[in-house]
Amino acid sequence: MNITITKPTPNDSDEVDELLWKVLWNPIDLPKDIRNEFKLDGEEITLAAKDSEQIIGIIVANKINHSEYEIRHIAVNPKYQKCGIGKKLIYALENILNKMEVDTVQTIARNSSQSFFETIGFVKMRDYRALPKFLKFGISFVLMKKKLPSMTKINTKINYNQIADKYDCTRTSNSNTIDLFQEKLKFEKETKILDFGCGTGNYLRTIFNQFGCKCFGIEPSDSMREIAKQKSRNAQIENGSHELIPFPDNEFDFVYMTDVIHHVPDMNKMFSKLNRVIKPSGLLCIVTESHDQIKNRFYNKYFPSLESVELKRYPGISVITEYAVHNSFVIEEIQEKEDSKVKISEDFIKLVSEKGYSMFRLIDEDEHITGLENLILDFKLNIVLKNSGETLIWLKN
Ligand SMILES: C[S@@+](CC[C@H](N)C(=O)[O-])C[C@H]1O[C@@H](n2cnc3c(N)ncnc32)[C@H](O)[C@@H]1O
Repeated sequence: MNITITKPTPNDSDEVDELLWKVLWNPIDLPKDIRNEFKLDGEEITLAAKDSEQIIGIIVANKINHSEYEIRHIAVNPKYQKCGIGKKLIYALENILNKMEVDTVQTIARNSSQSFFETIGFVKMRDYRALPKFLKFGISFVLMKKKLPSMTKINTKINYNQIADKYDCTRTSNSNTIDLFQEKLKFEKETKILDFGCGTGNYLRTIFNQFGCKCFGIEPSDSMREIAKQKSRNAQIENGSHELIPFPDNEFDFVYMTDVIHHVPDMNKMFSKLNRVIKPSGLLCIVTESHDQIKNRFYNKYFPSLESVELKRYPGISVITEYAVHNSFVIEEIQEKEDSKVKISEDFIKLVSEKGYSMFRLIDEDEHITGLENLILDFKLNIVLKNSGETLIWLKN
């Protein structure tokens, strides 16, 4: 099979109509022109899955409003069902919608397709009224929605080339996270590890100093990468991203990424590239925060608008694992790092005032200043706060 996903050409339109009808409506005795009755007014995106030149799958989506699209029809030639074509079509559509800064995609799914949509992160909102022509064949409908990580738009405000120095003087590696890596892995001299999105090399330097293993990194920002190269001279650090990992196949025993996944605009591509460079049975660890952890961050109290911005930017844990499994990774474990108590420190105040966390570049200046003032007040009062922790997603290749 040589499957490609493309926009159909005008010459393909009869073939598109024929496939939709054969798969969706012919089995329930609906006429060939029934598609006209189901058409939505909003702008339309149609994608076709082709095996060589033959159309074997179709997805049609329509705009509902500026932030929502609806998957109106999806059909796969029965000979190609259970081969992941439906998922490929949906992921390709999601990529397009992400770039258009669409937040949510919905679908009115047949009851028989509900579990398929659930496996790719759609959530049932409610039952949907079915027309008698469907009910008589036992077909009912549910309205389902999926929130898309609209990080692309938000992240354009963050330019790591401009903030590399500030980042480097306020951020460090987290020893607790490295302890958790060590619990899962035997770091030996020959162990090859890759830090994906290594930033200024904080983790690479600590890991090399602690274990002396073979360290590699990729980082797309020139300024971050240059600092990483200076700091981690024992590591080989290259220009790379979710689009290009410039290392041979089956190279790494362990790949990790800390605070990176919310910057990756195409997780599907990222997992497929990682799949290639990780050895069979090698491990991948994604260190991030779940939506509950984001809601419970102690700094939401100081910077109230952060929560909603961050929820949009961070993909949910189930969305990440779904893309991973779709690219043949197996979920080993999902570890939620315990909440801990933290005292506000001078270092933390410096980190906030210098905007060492990229999120502080996403709120307005007044909110940043007021939040910082309140944080300093609580620092003087020795207030102890609860840290909401992180999530480590462990995946096996
Ligand atoms: C918050 S920093 C984390 C850096 C480092 N992992 C750490 O924990 O200190 C996010 C990093 O992800 C990098 N990044 C952004 N988009 C990326 C992509 N598509 N692929 C890989 N890395 C990316 C950024 O350049 C930045 O260095």
